[in-house]
Amino acid sequence: MEASVFFTWLSICLLLITTTTSDDDLHHRRNLLGNGLGATPPMGWNSWNGFGCMIDENIIRETADALVSSGLAKLGYEYVTIDDCWGEVDRDEQGALVPNKAAFPSGMNALADYVHSKGLKLGIYADAGYFTCSKKTPGSLGNEELDAETFASWGIDYLKYDNCNNDGSKPTIRYPVMTRALMNSGRPIFFAICEWGDMHPATWGYTVGNSWRTSCDIADNWERMVSRADMNEYYADYARPGGWNDPDMLEIGNGGMNKDEYIVHMSLWAISKAPLIIGCDVRNMSKDTLEILTNEEVIAVDKDNLGVQAKKVRMDGDWEVWAGPLSHYRIAVLLLNRGGWTVNITAYWDDIGITSSTSVVARDLWEHKTLTSKFRGSFTAAVDPHTCKFYIFTPADKKSLQMS
Ligand SMILES: *[C@@H]1O[C@H](CO)[C@@H](O)[C@H](O)[C@H]1NC(C)=O
Ligand SMILES: *[C@@H]1O[C@H](CO)[C@@H](O)[C@H](O)[C@H]1NC(C)=O
Repeated sequence: MEASVFFTWLSICLLLITTTTSDDDLHHRRNLLGNGLGATPPMGWNSWNGFGCMIDENIIRETADALVSSGLAKLGYEYVTIDDCWGEVDRDEQGALVPNKAAFPSGMNALADYVHSKGLKLGIYADAGYFTCSKKTPGSLGNEELDAETFASWGIDYLKYDNCNNDGSKPTIRYPVMTRALMNSGRPIFFAICEWGDMHPATWGYTVGNSWRTSCDIADNWERMVSRADMNEYYADYARPGGWNDPDMLEIGNGGMNKDEYIVHMSLWAISKAPLIIGCDVRNMSKDTLEILTNEEVIAVDKDNLGVQAKKVRMDGDWEVWAGPLSHYRIAVLLLNRGGWTVNITAYWDDIGITSSTSVVARDLWEHKTLTSKFRGSFTAAVDPHTCKFYIFTPADKKSLQMS
């Protein structure tokens, strides 16, 4: 055994011993995850929605290139995450996970170096069970310390941790083990919990991960998209800087919805303070896809440093008003028409949380226009089928608000 291998092995053994003996009960810890990440929802790209298992290192490198050349990277899309199917089916002699030799011949260190050289971060996927969902790669259950150590040694910055093929024990038992392992690895790694909403992770996820999926998977169609947003909205009160509700990754650009519907998708995710993880082939995006993903005003709602997730504040049949506070006394307001014909949707001040006498200036985030009139008491707009209107309301007289 080479000296370096021996010392790695030794440190892993020591880590295992120390973690088993100082294994505090989750409920007696305020927060296992002091990694300081996720002050705003994460942004980036993930291979799954666009590529499934058909991934290799060239796709990852070219994606990193495209994120930079398209301008997406400078808007904050920074995590490039390799989802399922990246590994060999067997661990190596030391028990470590091994990248698939055909798909990732240069290895993960080289890939991380490349992605980092572009100013981006590399994410990877693992599973809190015996096998990943594809069954092409071993799961991390029982090997959390070694796998976290391996990911850290590769230069990984983000871990999506799935829930397939587990032993039937509760996610509240299995997920914190990986949290501790990541903390022990010594590298700040964003921890994205993906257990599909089992046992309401919003209620305990903040002590364990930086984000948690609130439902099972999205699909590239209207019903699945809006229903993910609905399920995610239920937990709005639990989102906060450092820990976010995750309605799953974006389908924008994958072809199953029209442009208006993808605009609704982007708007709902932004007002919900959701992770903005692109799922299409960014090497070959249409003009519309790029326009939607690069709307800086919409991204700014997601990344607003107040970090408060919006709620559905009024619904009537097929129309809904979503609203949530932003920094500087502003309010994000989304008028959504889920039905089949055009309707006038009204946001009442009482519903969106401002006093009836307040007069506001409305900025339309998709038209990139500030409306010329000021509004008081309510705001109405005609909204076409499967579209939305997305605004920021700013009090016209901020000084009087600050005095009160
Ligand atoms: C790029 O996208 C267009 C349609 O959006 C498709 O027809 C074309 O085959 C794609 N090219 C590559 C290289 O994937
Ligand atoms: C919306 O309200 C405006 C102004 O009252 C009216 O002219 C228009 O017909 C309404 N549209 C619908 C679809 O109800």
